[in-house]
Amino acid sequence: MSTSSELQATVEALARKGMGILAADESGPTIAKRFKAIGVESTEENRRAYRSLLLATPGLGQYISGVILYEETLGQKADDGEALPALAARLGIVPGIKVDAGKIPLALCPGDEITQGLDGLAQRLEGYKQRGARFAKWRAVYNVSDRLPSRAAVEANAEALARYAAICQEAGVVPIVEPEVLIDGDHSQARCAEVTEGVLREVFNALQRHHVALEHMLLKPSMVVSGKAHALQATPAEVATETLRVLRRTVPAAVPSINFLSGGQSPEEASANLDAMNRLGPQPWVLSFSYGRALQDPAMQAWRGHAAQGDHCQAALRKRARLNGAASQGAYTAAMESEA
Ligand code: 13P
Repeated sequence: MSTSSELQATVEALARKGMGILAADESGPTIAKRFKAIGVESTEENRRAYRSLLLATPGLGQYISGVILYEETLGQKADDGEALPALAARLGIVPGIKVDAGKIPLALCPGDEITQGLDGLAQRLEGYKQRGARFAKWRAVYNVSDRLPSRAAVEANAEALARYAAICQEAGVVPIVEPEVLIDGDHSQARCAEVTEGVLREVFNALQRHHVALEHMLLKPSMVVSGKAHALQATPAEVATETLRVLRRTVPAAVPSINFLSGGQSPEEASANLDAMNRLGPQPWVLSFSYGRALQDPAMQAWRGHAAQGDHCQAALRKRARLNGAASQGAYTAAMESEA
C-alpha cells in the first residue's frame, strides 16, 4: 500500500460519523495524579490493569474509532497475554500513540511553554508502527492571560506541530495536531476566542509551510470557553457559536475531522458543548471528540483499583462513549444522563 493510501485508510477508520477517540495516553506524572485522586498507587501493573479494562470494554468499538496510548501501554498485555494494541484493533479500534515528550518552559518567555520531542521522532515512529500504532498525537499548550501566549510561543509551537505532522505523514502515520488553549485562568470567553483564532491561524500557516496534507491529519483543538475562574461561564449555545466562528475562520475544509479535547470540562459539559455544535447544522468537517478525562473520570471513580469493580468501570466508560457518540450527531439530551 502506498503511504498516501495508508494515511487515507486510517483517516477513514478514525473519522467515522457518530464515533470519537478515547485519549488514554496520560504520561507517567499525569496518570499518577489521576490515580492518587482515587487512592491507587501508580505502578506499572496498576496502569496495565486499568488500561486493559478500558480497552476490553464490551461494545466500546460501537462508539470509539481510535484510542491514543502512552508508549508504555503499547508494549503491555491483557491478562490473557494479548498485546493491548492488538486487543484494540481486534475490537475495531485503531491504536494510536502520544509521541511528544511533554512541555517545558519556553526560554526567555516567562509563562509560555513549548512541547519537545522532535529529535529522533522518525526512528521512534518506525518502532511504534511495528507495535501497531497507525496514528499519533502531539500536544502544544498555550497559557492565557492579558499578555500570554507571546508571539514567540505561538510561532514556536506551530512550527513544532507542523514538523511533527510532516514526520508522521512521511512515515505513513496520521498526525493528530493538538493545540490546547488552556481553560485555567480568569479570562473571558472573548479572550479565549481571540487567542484560539491566532493560534489556529499560525498552526495552519506552519502546516502549509511544511507540506502537510490537510486531508491526512486530524485537528484536536480546545473549545472556545470562559476561563475556569471567570465570573461568567459561557453556555453550551455560546460555546458552540464562538467555537464554530473561530474554526470556520481558520480551519480549511480539507481537514476531515475535528476531535475536541475536554481540557477540564466535566463529562456532562463536554457532551453538551459538543452536542450544541452538531445541532448548528452541517459543517465542512466531522465534529467529534477525543476526550481523556470527560470519558474516563466516571470509569476511574467506579474502578478505584478494585478488579471486582471491572464491570462498573466498563459500564461507566461505555455510557460516556455512547453519550458522546450521540453528541457527535447532535442527538444528545440531558435526560440521557439519568439512563443506565
Ligand atoms: P482531556 O480530554 O482530559 O483534556 O485529555 C485529552 C488529551 O489527550 C489531552 O492531551
